[in-house]
Amino acid sequence: MTAKILGLGAYVPEKIITNEELSKIVDTTDEWIKTHTGIEKRHIISEDQTTSDMAVAAAEQAIERAGINKEDIDLIIVATASGDYAGFPSTACVVQHKLGIQHTAALDLSAGCSGFVYSLEVAKSMLIAGSAKKVLVIGAEALSRITNWKDRNTCVLFGDGAGAAILSLDEDNSGSGIIDSYLGAEGDGYKHLMRKVGGAKHSFQDKDFSEEDLYISMNGRRVYGFAVKVNEIIINTLLERNNLTIDDIKIIVPHQANIRIIQAAAKRLNFPIEKFFVVIDEYANTSAASIPIALNKLSESGKIQKGDLILTSGFGAGLTFGGNLIRW
Ligand code: ACO
Repeated sequence: MTAKILGLGAYVPEKIITNEELSKIVDTTDEWIKTHTGIEKRHIISEDQTTSDMAVAAAEQAIERAGINKEDIDLIIVATASGDYAGFPSTACVVQHKLGIQHTAALDLSAGCSGFVYSLEVAKSMLIAGSAKKVLVIGAEALSRITNWKDRNTCVLFGDGAGAAILSLDEDNSGSGIIDSYLGAEGDGYKHLMRKVGGAKHSFQDKDFSEEDLYISMNGRRVYGFAVKVNEIIINTLLERNNLTIDDIKIIVPHQANIRIIQAAAKRLNFPIEKFFVVIDEYANTSAASIPIALNKLSESGKIQKGDLILTSGFGAGLTFGGNLIRW
């Protein structure tokens, strides 16, 4: 028996920053951003919003579409790298409070942009183990709050938003659900994508840090190479160990970091680019929220039907990677 998705939801803030607007803040152009990343705009939270607000908006939509009572949820997992607070309390606890439910287990999962993919497998495992009956899984990020808006190498890449899913056991054996997941990490690459200051390694007490150390720092070329490599490994592994070929897969929902990463994966795998669902032009890279926002959009598009096979493929800080094989 496996775990299935009962309902999806997503939220992106109203405020949009276009490439053109960014070119007035840093030395860049709409042309450079579009040709190097595929991004056209990004949604950015307002000053009075935070990560948990977006998470709750996405969760409420998922709960409604799942047709469950929010009181039925007994586990909340929030995948985030930009939660309401640094370290603790978890954003999942704040989400529980804002949803107005009690006595659920609540935890944050830290796996960078792979966070939602990891969380689906954790939720599935806990459902199968009998530790929970209805799980709310959310990917939510307010990356704009930890972005260095003076650094053109990073500030053009990211956006804010949240996506959510309600999961339960597939008790009626419908065949829908998470068939397989492949998760991994290359910890030796931890330095290539990080926020240097604010943890135990470089605490605020040190006071010996520059302002830029408070924000996302990234070795873009190194992460790019990693991403292209692992996308191929994730997709091939999930296909091979389930005796499938690309023709069996309706669509792949990749982490939306850079259109060139997706194009490179398609080329290496010798798959048509149309097999990949792409929304990066609209939302930019929303880290752990990117795959659930795209999944929600795919579900709303009518492009997938019950019974279709879908692959997700993600990578991110850690460096982590992972994918899920899902029967709709
Ligand atoms: N506008 C104009 N020029 C720019 C910009 C910009 N916004 N950013 C960089 N450049 C310049 C660089 O300074 C460099 O100039 P130089 O040659 O004079 O030094 C030139 O463009 C080329 O730089 P590259 O780094 O080679 O640019 P590239 O084409 O590789 O694209 C990018 C950079 C977009 C960052 C790419 O490497 C990438 O997408 N990497 C992966 C990033 C990623 O996916 N990160 C998210 C991980 S997930 C998570 O957990 C958050």
